[in-house]
Amino acid sequence: MKPWVHVALFAALTAPLAIAHESATGVVKDRMEQMERFEELIERVFAMIHGELTYDAAAVRRAGEEIRAGSGRHMTALFPEGSNAPPSEATDTIWQEPASFQHYADMLEQWSGELAARADGRLRGTLPQKWEDAEMGPAMMQGGGMMGRSGPVFAAWHVAAACNACHAEFRKEE
Ligand code: HEC
Repeated sequence: MKPWVHVALFAALTAPLAIAHESATGVVKDRMEQMERFEELIERVFAMIHGELTYDAAAVRRAGEEIRAGSGRHMTALFPEGSNAPPSEATDTIWQEPASFQHYADMLEQWSGELAARADGRLRGTLPQKWEDAEMGPAMMQGGGMMGRSGPVFAAWHVAAACNACHAEFRKEE
């Protein structure tokens, strides 16, 4: 086998997520990579808040800043009209309800900024184990009560809830 075949095989075996994207190109590939990076970042933040990794305020700040830089208009710019041919999982409703889609991207921008700003705060409150389980709603208010609202835990919950709310509406079920 040629060396590059080994590299390709290795990548395919070690990164199952990436397989679905072999055929993704252009803007679809770009946004998939961006989304995967976001997942890596929010997973790390959750792991730090859960104590599975040592809490590092500077790393949390950087994660918040990186997510913020890729959200809002930067995110919606990666969804030009009609760009959801397979393997994309984006729904047509993105372009039927652009204001709503933009709203979630802006919510992510706002809360990832808050996460960065509050990274040094006290770790009050709780988070669901997995970021995918963080939802908007009453349970979110238990994420620290009044006292916790100025801290990073509350902000991290909102960040994940913004991801999940947008996926629930604008990403096809697998
Ligand atoms: C404004 C809406 C929106 C927000 C906010 C959003 N996403 Fe997504 N995400 C999507 C859409 C739409 C897709 C499907 C894209 C496609 O397949 O073309 C997607 C796909 C993904 C995927 C799968 C990528 C792949 O490789 O197929 C992951 C992982 C992901 N998002 C993570 C996140 C995380 C983590 C956040 C929050 C930090 C987030 N997303 C915020 C809309 C959003």
